[in-house]
Amino acid sequence: MDLETIESVETLRQTISCKRSEGLRVSFVPTMGFLHEGHAALIRKAAEMAPVVVVSVFVNPLQFGPSEDFDRYPRDIEHDKKVILAAGGNVLFAPSADVLTPINLEVMVDPGSLASVLCGRSRPGHFRGVCTIVAKLFNIVQPDYAVFGWKDAQQLIIIKKMVSDLNFPIEIVGVETVREADGLAMSSRNVYLSAEERRRAPVLYQALEQARHRAIIGDCTDAHLLRKSIISRIVNEMGGRVDYVEVVRISDLVPLNDVEIGNTMIAAAVFLGQTRLIDNVRF
Ligand code: PAJ
Repeated sequence: MDLETIESVETLRQTISCKRSEGLRVSFVPTMGFLHEGHAALIRKAAEMAPVVVVSVFVNPLQFGPSEDFDRYPRDIEHDKKVILAAGGNVLFAPSADVLTPINLEVMVDPGSLASVLCGRSRPGHFRGVCTIVAKLFNIVQPDYAVFGWKDAQQLIIIKKMVSDLNFPIEIVGVETVREADGLAMSSRNVYLSAEERRRAPVLYQALEQARHRAIIGDCTDAHLLRKSIISRIVNEMGGRVDYVEVVRISDLVPLNDVEIGNTMIAAAVFLGQTRLIDNVRF
């Protein structure tokens, strides 16, 4: 099948209602483009869920802070089209900024307390911007399923809460983090890393994974000690600047003193040079 590329809300609505009238189900993968294997895994999952697979590519200005990388966020739509097609996507929604975020946009979705911790603490307004754009995209696409990555665990958890609290008739599906061979979580932002930074970047996942291992074998279950050992590796082996390292309960992101096997996430954000890397392990 070909990839249908659509820029306007009206055309997208018509295309989807046409497919729906044939009785076809719709799955949806929202992205900001510069697609990699992680995105491709989401698209493949979406293709398993439904025959109509809509992928959006939109670098959402609402979720970037004033000093963040909105202007230099990497873009390559021709490459994205190839990735989408190869992974089984069939509709690309790629609106321009004025279509989704017109200058007079005022009503926003407030994600509540889940957005006050982890990335939400260091990126004020970020999840409000994410929820607002995802809610708009959900209303435009009206999918049966929407697929998100565990790489951005807090985002996935907040979107699930939004869908539940605001009664979106959509099933949210999570896909495990896709990694490079050395463990680094794939990210569009990895292109910002210098060769030297790229060499040191996998320490983040190694440190998280080591802590997870120690916790599940019972060697160390104390959150404070686990955090300390992760932070020390990030600083000493990776040369990173820690934004946060937190041990939280997955269900409500509340900090834990001691791990709860089956409901624990260790999440971290680290600056390596100018690049902010995030990752997490769950157990
Ligand atoms: P973006 O960073 O492009 O990510 C799009 C989706 O791909 C998200 O669900 C993200 O968790 C997932 N993803 C990214 N890297 C991944 C990896 N290595 N393994 C598995 N999944 C991965 O997240 C956003 O865009 C935006 O916030 C968006 C939801 C599109 C709203 O603007």
